[in-house]
Amino acid sequence: MQIKKSKKFTFKLLMILNLVVTLNLNAQIDYINEKALITIDKDSTTYFKNKFKSRFKVIDENQRMTLIETDEEALPWLSLFMHKDYNRCGGFMRHFSLDEALEHMNSEDKMQLAQSSFFQNSYQIDRENEVQPMLENLNAGNILATITKLSSFQNRYYKGPHGKSSAEWIRSEWAKMSSMRSDVKVELFKHKNWDQPSVILTLQGISKDIIIIGGHQDSISGSFGGQDAKAPGADDNASGISTMTEVMRVLMLSNYKPHHTIKFMAYASEEVGLLGSKEIAKAHKDANENILGVMQLDMTNFKGTKDLDIVMMTDYTNPDQNKFLGTIIDTYVPGVKWGFDKCGYGCSDHASWFSQGYPTSMPFESKMRDMNKNIHTANDTLKASKNSADHALKFAKMALAFLVELDK
Ligand code: BES
Ligand code: ZN
Repeated sequence: MQIKKSKKFTFKLLMILNLVVTLNLNAQIDYINEKALITIDKDSTTYFKNKFKSRFKVIDENQRMTLIETDEEALPWLSLFMHKDYNRCGGFMRHFSLDEALEHMNSEDKMQLAQSSFFQNSYQIDRENEVQPMLENLNAGNILATITKLSSFQNRYYKGPHGKSSAEWIRSEWAKMSSMRSDVKVELFKHKNWDQPSVILTLQGISKDIIIIGGHQDSISGSFGGQDAKAPGADDNASGISTMTEVMRVLMLSNYKPHHTIKFMAYASEEVGLLGSKEIAKAHKDANENILGVMQLDMTNFKGTKDLDIVMMTDYTNPDQNKFLGTIIDTYVPGVKWGFDKCGYGCSDHASWFSQGYPTSMPFESKMRDMNKNIHTANDTLKASKNSADHALKFAKMALAFLVELDK
């Protein structure tokens, strides 16, 4: 009798356990606060599988990358080892749902499209009369002032109060700058999973086709630095935001009326896996937007390489658009020397656009091997650039000329 009872009990217990496990498996996994879904490049997979063992569950794999389920706490360590052993700052992309991660894994076709000769007209240079006078108005002092302001926040981290108030500062600055124009709107692009919004300024053209200049607004300090750390991010990436802010100021001042629609974007949450730009790029793709070109400005004010000023990253970018940018520099910023290098992974927001099939460029401040070693620390200040924005000014000239020459 006793035995029978206990058998029954065990059976019931097993049934309940089975039910709990099934329910748990079917439940929506919270990829935000406990588990983390990431993709890493194929070449580092075995290394990290050995390092993280059971904390690294491979969900999918293809020729280029591996989709891994891990936990939140593993991410700073992952980023630390990527830095140490692969010389990559973060080196992984984070995803917030399985669908989005799988879509990224299968982005090969779209990347092929972004890579192939793309532009619908041709990359011709014939607007010297409009471009030249605007270039004269670009001013390094203004770029310097914006970098100073942006790097005075405790940090611009994607979580916490500072990253939110710095985003609001950018919004109000851009709104002030464009307040006299009825064809301009400045909006916050809010993100569901964290507080820092992206900021988007749209200069409406006659055509709905879009040209984009963007850069990330957030900053970070170390792999473990959170929302309280000191992260001035003067070069990474107050410099890029300040460079595009100056381009915007001159376009407004010159009362430039574009044919196509021009958008300036300050992305949230790049430093933790290109999160802001990934959502924005997807929204544009889902809305079937036609985008003529995307330029990423991420780090523009540290002259690390002696004989080069502007270095075009060749990965996750469109070769024809890069060539066009080279001609833009030769034409409009004479004396500025440019060349090529590569990040070796999706190192900034241009990768988000490229993965959606859009043509991108990422003109960078130095060769990789000469990069600013202060980034992602409390020492990423203007001091490393000798309290000057002369280097960034070259990028502002290139960016303004790129916009106007593409805008036809
Ligand atoms: N600005 C850097 C990228 C960078 C650093 C490019 C040095 C070239 C040289 C960017 O903000 C960054 O840190 N990106 C992360 C991307 C990752 C989180 C997907 C990186 O490089 O690890
Ligand atoms: Zn960075």
